[in-house]
Amino acid sequence: MLLRSLSGLLLLCCTPVCLLPEAVCTSAVPSASKSLVWGLGLEANAVLPARFFFIQSVDKAGKNLTTSPGANTFEVKVTSPSEAFSRIWVQVLDRQDGSFLVRYRMYASYTELNVEILLKNKHVAKSPYILKGPVYHESCNCPEPSGALWMNHMHCPSSFSQIQHDLSIFPKVDLERNAHEIPQRFGQRQSLCHYTIKNNQVYIKTYGEHVGFRIFMDAFLLSLTRKVRLPDVEFFVNLGDWPLEKRRTTDKLHPIFSWCGSNDTRDIVMPTYDLTESVLETMGRVSLDMMSVQANTGPPWAEKNMTAFWRGRDSRRERLELVKLARANPELLDAAFTNFFFFEHVESLYGPLVKHVSFFDFFKYKYQINVDGTVAAYRMPYLLAGDSVVLKQDSTYYEHFYSQLQPWVHYIPIKADLSDVLEKIQWAKEHDEEARKIAQAGQQFARTHLMADSIFCYYYKLFQEYEKLQVTEPKIRDGMELVEQPKDDLFPCYCHRTKVKDEL
Ligand SMILES: *[C@@H]1O[C@H](CO)[C@@H](O)[C@H](O)[C@H]1NC(C)=O
Ligand SMILES: *[C@@H]1O[C@H](CO)[C@@H](O)[C@H](O)[C@H]1NC(C)=O
Ligand SMILES: *[C@@H]1O[C@H](CO)[C@@H](O)[C@H](O)[C@H]1NC(C)=O
Repeated sequence: MLLRSLSGLLLLCCTPVCLLPEAVCTSAVPSASKSLVWGLGLEANAVLPARFFFIQSVDKAGKNLTTSPGANTFEVKVTSPSEAFSRIWVQVLDRQDGSFLVRYRMYASYTELNVEILLKNKHVAKSPYILKGPVYHESCNCPEPSGALWMNHMHCPSSFSQIQHDLSIFPKVDLERNAHEIPQRFGQRQSLCHYTIKNNQVYIKTYGEHVGFRIFMDAFLLSLTRKVRLPDVEFFVNLGDWPLEKRRTTDKLHPIFSWCGSNDTRDIVMPTYDLTESVLETMGRVSLDMMSVQANTGPPWAEKNMTAFWRGRDSRRERLELVKLARANPELLDAAFTNFFFFEHVESLYGPLVKHVSFFDFFKYKYQINVDGTVAAYRMPYLLAGDSVVLKQDSTYYEHFYSQLQPWVHYIPIKADLSDVLEKIQWAKEHDEEARKIAQAGQQFARTHLMADSIFCYYYKLFQEYEKLQVTEPKIRDGMELVEQPKDDLFPCYCHRTKVKDEL
């Protein structure tokens, strides 16, 4: 009750008319000059499908606000001074912790952009921010010729330890040998794409029947080659769930790019198709992405339900185990299937199927269980970004960023066989402050390392490092076809980075 009335007070403070004593009020009212604004979305050269930046509300005394001052506190306008009707869609996302994520998607390129951030008609921080153009939009095919310069523009890290680890076992990459051996070894039973990138054009040949997932890789490669000139590279992408290279002896290894890695295989891991798709389709086809999730993290920590939560399908035996445990211990764990596909559905053991729950509603619960599906559960980036604590099953499977995560820092570890899951939930309930810290560290990790810029940097760096290992020339092989850039007839853009300018 006390808690409730306190949060009531805070809410009152957020309304423009404050009826409370000054001391209480000022603490929750942001100051236009003291509030902080930063991020790539304020830089003309960082081309992304949806550009973004951050606002941290800070009060008059210089203290960060830690609760929302109200969703409509800041008004953001993104306009082009030279065009009367700018085709730019802006969203201000309230992260409920005193900070905001602003994202905008441009449907045309502009010679200049003005980003105005207003708090009750007063400019915030250094607003207006003038982005001296050209400012290119996502579908503009305008690669920066210098990879080094592009990495600078994107503030890419100089290395990724997972890439170094994955490539360290390949002293050299012989493309002639691979072009011959990899289709023979995997081409019949697996779904593979053989890609060559030459002169920044993407070529492909597919192997296997089920190659529908190539659309994710194609789309990402096209997006990347519109932004930066890639080195000439030739490589194989595994479209299946499981990583493929199980050989132990180094001299016989084949480099295979996969969306999931494992302790027992030597595949080269890339950000998943799910994450790349959500990067490309942010403010587009997808509703769950690394930005939208930050605005939908459920009630504040103290008000979250203290039962652990899981929903999913029956893609692994441990998941059956989890649901059985939940049925025996409903006060600790709510885990249920939304779908049966792989195992026989025995209702007496696993209960009735439950209705699909919107992902954002997961965050009504304090404790999120992450259990492998077919391979690693690709919901991990989104789970981390919410403000619940993640209890992660130890697993042989991993995504491109798992090696940067630390147990007890970013998540609470649970054993591979789930034998300690109840114990760990109990621990979290009894150590609320520690659990909350872990939740916040996980969230901070996701906010820093799993956003669109990091995904583009990772792929670029991977190709750059891989290129150095190639000992033969990448070739457009027999049967390869060009993957064409989509046409943007509605909003053509003029690329000023290359010779194209002279032709205008
Ligand atoms: C206030 O927020 C900014 C932005 O997140 C952060 O860099 C800074 O360290 C915070 N200041 C304090 C005193 O916590
Ligand atoms: C918390 O969630 C559990 C399981 O979904 C539910 O049975 C329980 O009623 C909820 N508790 C509260 C206080 O809402
Ligand atoms: C997989 O390897 C990681 C890193 O070495 C290790 O922490 C983890 O326990 C291993 N998991 C399994 C199930 O082998």
